[in-house]
Amino acid sequence: MKLFSVLSMALFGSAAAFAPAPVVNSRAVAPVNMAAADGEFYIDQNRRNLMNLILVGSAAVTVGGLAVPYILFFLPPSAGGGGAGISAKDALGNDLFEKEYLTTHRVGDHSLAQGLKGDATYLIVKEDGTLEDFGLNAVCTHLGCVVPWSAPNNKFMCPCHGSQYSATGAVVRGPAPLPLALAHRTTDEAGTIIFSPWTETDFRTEGKPWWM
Ligand code: FES
Repeated sequence: MKLFSVLSMALFGSAAAFAPAPVVNSRAVAPVNMAAADGEFYIDQNRRNLMNLILVGSAAVTVGGLAVPYILFFLPPSAGGGGAGISAKDALGNDLFEKEYLTTHRVGDHSLAQGLKGDATYLIVKEDGTLEDFGLNAVCTHLGCVVPWSAPNNKFMCPCHGSQYSATGAVVRGPAPLPLALAHRTTDEAGTIIFSPWTETDFRTEGKPWWM
C-alpha cells in the first residue's frame, strides 16, 4: 500500500509538470474607477455655456473678418467726403475758416484749397466780399492738368493744351470736353468752410453732373 501511494504521487507530479501554463494577458487594461473618472471630467452647464459662447464668438469674428471686406469690395466708392461734406483745407492740411479767410483774400480772389477727395478746388471771393457758394475743381477735363486762374482775362486758362473756362468753369475753348466739376461750398456753425458733393443739375449745362 505504501508503495502504491508513492507511485501515485510520482505519476501525478509528472503529469502536472507537462500541463500548459496559465495564459497571462499582457494587454489587459487596468480597471478604471469610473466614479473617480466621472468626478474629474464632469463639465457643468455654466462651463458648457461659456465654451459655446467662446466658440460662437470666435466663429463670428472669423466670418465677419472675411465677409466685411468681401461686401465692401462690391460697394461703390463714396463721392468724395460723403453727403455731409468735408472741411476745406490749406496746403498744410489745416481747416479753413471763412472769417479768417476773408481777411486775407480780397474781392475777385481765386485761390486753391484741398477739396473733395483731396482735389485742388477753387474758393472764389465774390464782388460783395463773400465766398461763392460753389467751388470749382481745378483739374482740366481734357487730360488732367491743374488749370490756373488768369485774373487779367477773367478766365481759367489751361497751360497744357490751351483749354479755357469761364469764371464759373464753363468751357469757352477746347479741347476740354466738359466744364470744371462743381462742389457745394458752405460754412458750418463753427465757421469752417465746407465742401460737399454737387449732385444736382449742373447750372452751366442744365444737364446731369458729369462727375457723378
Ligand atoms: S489738359 Fe488742359 S487743355 Fe489739355
